[in-house]
Amino acid sequence: MLDAGRTQDTLLEVNNIEVIYNHVILVLKGVSLNVPKGGITALLGGNGAGKTTTLKAISNLLHSERGEVTKGSILYRGERVQDLNPADLVKKGVIQVMEGRHCFEHLTVEENLLTGAYTRPDKGAIAADLEMVYTYFPRLKERRKSQAGYTSGGEQQMTAIGRALMSRPETILLDEPSMGLAPQLVEQIFEIVKSVNENEGVTFLLAEQNTNVALRYAHYGYILESGRIVMDGPAADLRENPDVKEFYLGMADEGRKSFRDVRSYRRRKRWLS
Ligand SMILES: Nc1ncnc2c1ncn2[C@@H]1O[C@H](COP(=O)(O)OP(=O)(O)OP(=O)(O)O)[C@@H](O)[C@H]1O
Ligand SMILES: [Mg+2]
Repeated sequence: MLDAGRTQDTLLEVNNIEVIYNHVILVLKGVSLNVPKGGITALLGGNGAGKTTTLKAISNLLHSERGEVTKGSILYRGERVQDLNPADLVKKGVIQVMEGRHCFEHLTVEENLLTGAYTRPDKGAIAADLEMVYTYFPRLKERRKSQAGYTSGGEQQMTAIGRALMSRPETILLDEPSMGLAPQLVEQIFEIVKSVNENEGVTFLLAEQNTNVALRYAHYGYILESGRIVMDGPAADLRENPDVKEFYLGMADEGRKSFRDVRSYRRRKRWLS
């Protein structure tokens, strides 16, 4: 039996989760989302909206931050995963690329990529996968002997994504890939995400402040504000939505503080008219 709202091709399902830091700070207030197999799903929202917290809740990385999921459930292929440790989740095919493109700075680019394969039993295929990563990121092949700490921000982001690919994941949770990168590089990274999605069938859940670029590459989007999903829909619809245009695509009026303010303002107006 499938749960209500869950379709056959749902891979990851977050149901009404609440996250609290340090026992008192309520950050996620009932977040629900579905990630279908083979899609690119975007989790959008401004600074501090709760995007990283949502991804960390999924991959069980909250404990080291003194955070915990206090309500709701997280299912992967219909199975509860919120009590697994991150390594077990990787074995199930879910890997997170952390915000801020964490690399092992003292290792070379290639050594960084190889660390991504450590959970795999089929060591024989690793060389072929390294080549696969290099076809998506030719720049990393050129830089493979360089110490990661001395490569550019864009190259480090590529290394972080490449390392995730080396675990042959079914799903990648990608946190803020555009952070701190020049627009042209951001575009290049999203193009690669798109081709990995199309050619390798990898499912993506990506957190982004950059709504514009994310909605051009994602199939579906969720907008998070102050720990709540305020809107969701197919990316093409969100791109055309007047509220989204106004608030997230750079056409905002001064003076209105949040997306929710505008929505309730519109709702009030409708009730009054
Ligand atoms: N370890 C922590 N302890 C207490 N509060 C935290 C902790 N980590 C995050 N928060 C708070 O939780 C809220 C959500 O933060 P989060 O990092 O999830 O947002 P975000 O959407 O990823 O933001 P950004 O776009 O800036 O990365 C913020 O108010 C933040 O201050
Ligand atoms: Mg974040």
